[in-house]
Amino acid sequence: MSQANFLSVVESFSQKQVLITGATGFLGKAILEKILRETPDVGRVFLLIRGGAIDACERCSQDVFGSSLFDVLRDKHGAGFDAFISSKVEVVSGELTAPDFGLSDVDFIRLAGKLDLIINSAASVNFREAMDQALKINTLSLNNIVKLVQSKAQGSKATKVLQISTCYVNGLNRGVMREEVVSPASGLLSRNKDGTYDIEPVINQLNRKINRIYQNNHDASRQQNKLIQLGIQQSQHFGWSDTYTFTKWLGEQLLIQALDKQNLTILRPSIIESAVSSPLPGWVEGVKVADALIYAYAKGRVSIFPGDDNGILDVIPVDLVANSALMCSAQLFQSASRYRIYQCCSGRLNPIRLKQFIDYIQQASLDQYQQLPKLFAGKPQDAFKTVTPKTFRLYMAALKGSTWLKTIMGRLLGSKSAGRLMDKANTTASLATIFGFYTAPKYRFDSIQLEQLQARFSVLEQKRFNAKADSYSWKVYLQTIHLPGLHQYALAGKPDLTKAQENKQQDQAA
Ligand SMILES: NC(=O)c1ccc[n+]([C@@H]2O[C@H](COP(=O)([O-])OP(=O)(O)OC[C@H]3O[C@@H](n4cnc5c(N)ncnc54)[C@H](OP(=O)(O)O)[C@@H]3O)[C@@H](O)[C@H]2O)c1
Repeated sequence: MSQANFLSVVESFSQKQVLITGATGFLGKAILEKILRETPDVGRVFLLIRGGAIDACERCSQDVFGSSLFDVLRDKHGAGFDAFISSKVEVVSGELTAPDFGLSDVDFIRLAGKLDLIINSAASVNFREAMDQALKINTLSLNNIVKLVQSKAQGSKATKVLQISTCYVNGLNRGVMREEVVSPASGLLSRNKDGTYDIEPVINQLNRKINRIYQNNHDASRQQNKLIQLGIQQSQHFGWSDTYTFTKWLGEQLLIQALDKQNLTILRPSIIESAVSSPLPGWVEGVKVADALIYAYAKGRVSIFPGDDNGILDVIPVDLVANSALMCSAQLFQSASRYRIYQCCSGRLNPIRLKQFIDYIQQASLDQYQQLPKLFAGKPQDAFKTVTPKTFRLYMAALKGSTWLKTIMGRLLGSKSAGRLMDKANTTASLATIFGFYTAPKYRFDSIQLEQLQARFSVLEQKRFNAKADSYSWKVYLQTIHLPGLHQYALAGKPDLTKAQENKQQDQAA
């Protein structure tokens, strides 16, 4: 390929105006940092942030630029950091789910007129979100994105959209999952001639069920529980494991159809974890999915879990996802075409099986527990074992029965350890309900098209925006980058606990 034919992130972002949603979150922040540090000629970056007890600008200072993620950029600009940020970044105070984000007509149209690109990273990533909330945030709010695109004056260059989705929109399907529209595993939805799915009847049906719950349940917590149950039940009925992935799939369909299959790229990451190298190795925010299990194991609350040792646990470092997002954006700017779908994952190029993942983490836990006191209050006592979902159900039923008896006896005799056992059984059961699907994977995600896209950038840019899932070793990443990163960044605000303090906390909670 000649130099002239290469795509370029740096060139394509020059003078462009970009809206990012979800910048207070884990991935949105990583994408923003990358744009500001690696494409300093970008025109302006608008951040849609919702205000709450504190206003959106204040939240931006605290939750976005207050993050250690921006330390490298802060060092680069020194005393000029604030001026640089003011010259490039503008906060738009808005609620994703409100009509026009809650902006006035004038402000909405003005914003629409300025944009070259929208990167939509905002979402509810709660797997068991209430059905009404998940539908609003992950699906229906995309109507606002569509309206923003369509509100641009006729004749001006079309605004491009990069939608951050998830590999897990593949739901309950099995086998190799390609970078294409997902067919629901249930086979219950009718497919349009163009390969998309008719989602309007599904959304109408969901809204009817939601309204019935509103009408019949006036107690707020009962209503919430019913809406959570509805989400899980409907997701599984249509072919997904949880409400999050079902509503993200609906969102993909909505965008593809409403944007008439143009100027849209859908980027589906797998499970996103700490940065492998840039800007800070190990940087991570929040304790989600795989980390929630690592954390519970470190705290002695989980030692047995349903899973498939031979299944591929698809994890991908956040910097690789951010770099992929920039490459997809460059392609949107430089080569228009019908919509594209890419999967950003490790399962094809650098697969790791669940058993190997657990072994690396366990080995590192035994070697490093003293250096990671926010994570470990002492030497991990039990080995972490996986069992089949069926064995797990039998084990939990037996454990809960015997633990319940021991707890009653323990309380009568003044012993605390039985309460801790009950706490462990409850933590294991609730983590298994939420994450059990992800530790027993029945498929491998394909990423050939994303790999082909990477090859369209110069060697220099491929290094600068490294998105190669085989560019690191799992042993090195998990043991020397991710685990220390969890301790240093995700748990930064947590105190170091001794075993006695931790037991006391667990006794109080039990
Ligand atoms: N994390 C993963 O492992 C993973 C894996 C695959 C795909 N993804 C996708 O990656 C994207 C980002 O995920 P993440 O892990 O960064 O999630 P996150 O940390 O929970 O961030 C979610 C972001 O969405 C914003 N948001 C949610 N509801 C909103 C609303 N009603 N109005 C305005 N903003 C709203 C949040 O703002 P507030 O701060 O105001 O709440 C926050 O900035 C999502 O689209 C997700 O589906 C994530």
